[in-house]
Amino acid sequence: MKNLIEKIKKLKEEKNAVILAHSYQNIEIDEVADFVGDSLYLSQMAKTTNADIIVFAGVYFMAQTAKIISPEKKVLLPNANAGCLMSDMINHEQMINFKKNHPNVPVVCYINSTAEVKAECDICCTSSNALKIVKSLNNSKVLFLPDANLGKWVESKLDKVEVITYDGNCPVHNNIEIKDIELARKNYPDAKILIHPECKPEVSRLGDYVGSTSGIMEYVRKSKDKQFVIVTEKGVADRLERDYPDKKFILIKSNMLCESMKLTTLEEILYSLEHEVNEITLDESVRKRSAGCIERMLKASK
Ligand code: 13P
Ligand code: SF4
Repeated sequence: MKNLIEKIKKLKEEKNAVILAHSYQNIEIDEVADFVGDSLYLSQMAKTTNADIIVFAGVYFMAQTAKIISPEKKVLLPNANAGCLMSDMINHEQMINFKKNHPNVPVVCYINSTAEVKAECDICCTSSNALKIVKSLNNSKVLFLPDANLGKWVESKLDKVEVITYDGNCPVHNNIEIKDIELARKNYPDAKILIHPECKPEVSRLGDYVGSTSGIMEYVRKSKDKQFVIVTEKGVADRLERDYPDKKFILIKSNMLCESMKLTTLEEILYSLEHEVNEITLDESVRKRSAGCIERMLKASK
C-alpha cells in the first residue's frame, strides 16, 4: 500500500492534480487526498483549486458538480460505477413533470442530482446549507428535490414556509427508524446522538445535533463529551475513531454503508491518474444552466 500511495503522490505532483475525497470513502484514501470533507466543502475546493486535474474520490454527481463549476479542468471519477441511489431517483423528465404540477414556485435542488436536473432548478443546496438556501428565497412555497427527508426537515425549522418535496430519499439513511434512536438512547444514555438530515425528519428530531458529514465531525471536534452515536454512513465513524482515539463512537447500525462510496480503491485512483480515464464530460448548454444553479448556492452560502 505504501508503494501505491507514493506513486499516486508523485503522479499528482507531475500532473498538477488534486484528489478530493468525500468522508464516506474508504479511509485509506485520505492518505493521498488533498481535501476530505462534505459535498459543500469539496465543491468549494473544486472551484478554487489551481490544479489542472481533479480526481474525485466520491460518487458521480460530485465529480459532475466539480466539472460544472470548473469546466477548464479535467475531472476524473476513478470508478465509473460509483453512482448515488438518491440522485438516480429523478431524471430530467420527472423533474419537468414535478415543476409542471407546481407552476411558479421556486425550485431548490439538493446537490445529489444530475446536471440535467440542476439545469432546471433555481438554486442548489447541500445538507449543510439547505436551511439557509430555502430561507434566502424568501417565498412562502418552495419546491425541493430529490430528498423528501431533507426538504421536510428544513420545513420543520421554518415558520410559514411550505416545502413541497419530490418523493426521493437515500436508502442508507432512510433505513433508520425512531425505535433505533430510542434504543441507542437507552443503551448509551451518556452519548450525544449526531444525525445526518437525509434521515426521516421524525428521526432527525430526536438528535442532539443534525448536520452534514463535516458538521458532525466539527461537532465532535468542539465537544467535551466522550461518547457519540453516529447516524450516518460508516466512513464518518471510521474517521472519528481514527482522529479521537480517547472517545467512543457507536455507529447506529452496522449496515450504514453506501456501497457506491466504497467502490473506489487506491489502485483505481492510480490508474485513473496514470491513464486519465473516466473523464467527466458535459453538454455545454446543460453545463452553463446547471452552473448558474450551483453558483447561486456558493454565493448565498458565503
Ligand atoms: P454531505 O453533504 O453531508 O457530504 O452529504 C452527502 C451525501 O451524499 C450524504 O449521503
Ligand atoms: Fe447517495 Fe445515499 Fe450514498 Fe449519499 S449515502 S451518496 S445520498 S446513496
